[in-house]
Amino acid sequence: MTLRLGDIAPDFQQDSSLGTIHFYDFLGEHWGILFSHPADYTPVCTTELGFTAKLKDEFEKRGVKAIALSVDDVESHHGWIKDINETQQTEVNFPIIADHDRKVSTLYDFIHPNASETSTVRSVVIIAPNKKVRLTLTYPASTGRNFNEILRVIDSLQLTDQHKVATPANWQHGDDVVIVPALKDEAEIAQRFPKGYTAVKPYLRFTAQPEIH
Ligand code: BEZ
Repeated sequence: MTLRLGDIAPDFQQDSSLGTIHFYDFLGEHWGILFSHPADYTPVCTTELGFTAKLKDEFEKRGVKAIALSVDDVESHHGWIKDINETQQTEVNFPIIADHDRKVSTLYDFIHPNASETSTVRSVVIIAPNKKVRLTLTYPASTGRNFNEILRVIDSLQLTDQHKVATPANWQHGDDVVIVPALKDEAEIAQRFPKGYTAVKPYLRFTAQPEIH
């Protein structure tokens, strides 16, 4: 099944390094980052999961729960977690789904047979508290993902859900944002953006980033 933006993320129950996961119960009212990796005991995946563990405080600040997945079994995950902790100087603090029967991988389209018939690709799905899919991305096995970029997207999504703005190229939290083109009423703009705005073009209007609540 191909998951598209705005679709409802499928619920599931599956084994994990922290016991059986009931996905929606696990997420509760949080944002979710579900991400797949090709295999345990591989170098790039080791760095990715180590880095994700180090982002614990950043995820917590944003109300995000991370959960990893591969088709390896629970025993493999337990052994590998020890290696991640040792080599990346961290403590894996999120579950790794053991998708031995590919149930979740099938629901989320994590196996791309023309890349590999047996393992999952490097995908990420960001899920909002209402369970809607807000981002999907897929990287090749040879390229580790930038998890700071995932945080940046979460910041953008949370900001733009709350304010009539969008975030320009390479935006980082605190940078100026753009006012959405649909907002044209000057009185409303003045009320929403009291610091004013700079119009480079009528459709390209920069303003200071509002607070994310
Ligand atoms: C890795 O995580 O290092 C990796 C996994 C599968 C293929 C290539 C690299």
